[in-house]
Amino acid sequence: MSDRPDAVRSEDRTSVAPGEAILAVENVSLAFGGVKALTEVSFDIRKGEIRAIIGPNGAGKTSMLNCINGFYHPTEGAITFKGRRRGRMRPSEAARGGIGRTFQNVALFKGMSTLDNIMTGRSLKM
Ligand SMILES: Nc1ncnc2c1ncn2[C@@H]1O[C@H](COP(=O)(O)OP(=O)(O)OP(=O)(O)O)[C@@H](O)[C@H]1O
Ligand SMILES: [Mg+2]
Repeated sequence: MSDRPDAVRSEDRTSVAPGEAILAVENVSLAFGGVKALTEVSFDIRKGEIRAIIGPNGAGKTSMLNCINGFYHPTEGAITFKGRRRGRMRPSEAARGGIGRTFQNVALFKGMSTLDNIMTGRSLKM
C-alpha cells in the first residue's frame, strides 16, 4: 500500500517514461458559434513536469482545461494523453484515465448532505 497521492499512482500505471510527453495538445481550436475561444493551441506536458496556463480574463484557460478533461470537445486539433490520441472523450473516461480537476468557483451539490458531497467527489474510488 503506497502513501503517495492518487495522481502519482495513476501515472505509474502508464508506460510513459520520465521526460516523455504525458499530455500533448496539438493545434486545438474551439469555437462557440462565432466566438473563437481557442485558436490552434499547442503544448505538451512531460511526465513529472508541473505546468500552468496563464492569461487574461476570457483568454480561454478554462476552455482549454475543459477540452483536456472531456467536458468540451475541440472543434479542430488533437489531444494525446498517455500515448492515446483521443477523439470525443467523456469527462468520466478522462477521470478514470487519471485527469483530475478543481473548479474556479467551488460549489456544493445543494440538497445533498456533507457526507454525500464528499462521497460524490470520491466516486471513482468506490
Ligand atoms: N460555454 C460557452 N459558451 C459560449 N462562449 C463561451 C463558453 N465558455 C467560454 N466561452 C467564451 O470563450 C472565451 C474564453 O472563455 P474562458 O472561460 O475559457 O476564459 P478564461 O481564460 O478561463 O477566463 P477567466 O480568467 O475569466 O476565467 C470567452 O470569450 C468566453 O466568453
Ligand atoms: Mg476561467
